[in-house]
Amino acid sequence: MASPFLIVAHRGASALAPENTLASFRRALDMGAKAVELDVHQSRDGELLVIHDENLKRTCGLDALVKDLDASRIRSLDAGSWFGPQFAGERVPTLRETLELLLGRASVHLELKQGSRYYPGIEARAVALLKKMDGMRDSVLSSFDHQALFEVRRVDFSARIGYLLGRASTIRALKDTKDLRAESLHLSLRQTTAARVRSAHEHGLRVLTYTVVSSAQGRRLRSLGVDGVFANDPGLLQDQRHAPL
Ligand code: G3P
Ligand code: MG
Repeated sequence: MASPFLIVAHRGASALAPENTLASFRRALDMGAKAVELDVHQSRDGELLVIHDENLKRTCGLDALVKDLDASRIRSLDAGSWFGPQFAGERVPTLRETLELLLGRASVHLELKQGSRYYPGIEARAVALLKKMDGMRDSVLSSFDHQALFEVRRVDFSARIGYLLGRASTIRALKDTKDLRAESLHLSLRQTTAARVRSAHEHGLRVLTYTVVSSAQGRRLRSLGVDGVFANDPGLLQDQRHAPL
C-alpha cells in the first residue's frame, strides 16, 4: 500500500512562530506534526546551531557570520523579536536541545547548510550527536552540498540521506543518490515536474517538495505523485493523515 502524503513542518511551524526556534518546533508538535525540518550551521567553537542563514542579521539583528562567533555570543541574541514581540527572548537553539525536544515525538529532517569545506567536521559531529541521542533511525540528513552528503555516508553506513537537487542535473542527481544510497530526492516547487517525479520513483526514491505555503499547492503536488512536502504551516491539508517518516 502506498504511504500517505507526508507533511514536514518546514523550520518548525514557521508560518506561525519564528523559524528554527524551540517555539516554532513546539508549535509544530502541538499541531500534530509527525516530521520537522531544521537547518544547521556551526559556530566558531564547533557548536551545531539551528538557524537558516549563515548571517545572523535577518533573524537576530547582528550582521555577523555564525562561523565567526562562539556559540555563547550567538545564543545571547534574540532570535524571536523579528517575528513578533511575543517571541522576544527566543534563542538560536543548539542542535542538541532541538533534538531533545523533537526525538521520540517527530521525525527530523536535518539539513546541513554547508559541509566540511566551510564548517570543518560538521558532518561527523551531526552524526555523532544523532547516534548519542539514539536519533539515527528517525532522522534524515539532507543538504544542497552534495560533498557533505558523501561525507555523511563515509562516516556512517546506516545514515538516512535526502538529496537536495540544487543546481545538479537530474542525471547527476540520480547517479549521486545511487552512490549515496539516498532514500529521497528533495525538489523546489519549480523543479517538481511529473517527469522528474516519475524518474525518481523509478530509481526507488521518494520525492519531497519545498516550500509549500497553501493547501492548493499541496494538492497539486500530490496529484503529480509527490510523496510529501515541506510546509511552513503543518496544518495545511488537514484532511490528510500525516505519515510517519
Ligand atoms: O530542506 C528543504 C528546504 O528547507 C530547503 O531550502 O532554503 O528553506 O533551507 P531552505
Ligand atoms: Mg532547510
